[in-house]
Amino acid sequence: MSFDRKIKIAPSILSADFADFGREIRAVQDEGADWVHVDVMDGHFVPNLTFGPPAVKAFRSHVTTFMDVHLMIAPVDPFIDAYAEAGADLITAHVEAGPHIHRTLQAIRATGKKSGVAINPGTPVEAIEYVLDLCDLVLVMSVNPGFGGQKFIHSQVDKIARLRGMIGVRPIHIQVDGGIDAKTAPLVAQAGADVLVAGSAVFRGGSVNDQHVYGQNIASIRGAAEGVLRGRDPS
Ligand code: DX5
Ligand code: ZN
Repeated sequence: MSFDRKIKIAPSILSADFADFGREIRAVQDEGADWVHVDVMDGHFVPNLTFGPPAVKAFRSHVTTFMDVHLMIAPVDPFIDAYAEAGADLITAHVEAGPHIHRTLQAIRATGKKSGVAINPGTPVEAIEYVLDLCDLVLVMSVNPGFGGQKFIHSQVDKIARLRGMIGVRPIHIQVDGGIDAKTAPLVAQAGADVLVAGSAVFRGGSVNDQHVYGQNIASIRGAAEGVLRGRDPS
């Protein structure tokens, strides 16, 4: 995958029908999703439980785009190889999940996968300044992780802008996750985010039997984000 800063929409399958992941993943991809975002939770780092490596491996067989796996687990290092083998294209770990994020990012890169670092709403951008060169992506959480459908935290827009300045010309994506819809997408796009995760705003109102609604939802988020960038140099 070559690097660019075009807006990418990454539906979070946390908001999909849990009895029908294969068809849900195929439906959002047919309807314009650029990436598929998988939220892994451990009931310890965050107060919710989701997908182990065998589940992620099953999702992989339906992904024709790019699968990013957001690990909300602590400890993270013992599970990196398993999620890499399950077929993640990019693995993101939280800076708050342990004392050795530098080692964690090296371990992700050692699997041959792309690497991401996530920061919670209460964590300053400075926390990742010295690991940026080990990252292909920085994930700015715009809700406290653990659940879909939460309200966007507006203070994170300024954080994205500061991060964008810190990244400069380096080929590092800025991903934002939590409360993204057609209203908040322009704010984060304007601040410098290029990968927009959206769960409820993509799956809302649709189903695998009515998947054109997913397409409308994706198009409206993308349109709102691109609208604010129009006329701007995409570099
Ligand atoms: C939160 C997850 C998000 C979440 C986004 O812990 O990381 O991916 O599912 O969901 P919405 O878009 O509904 O806020
Ligand atoms: Zn996520």
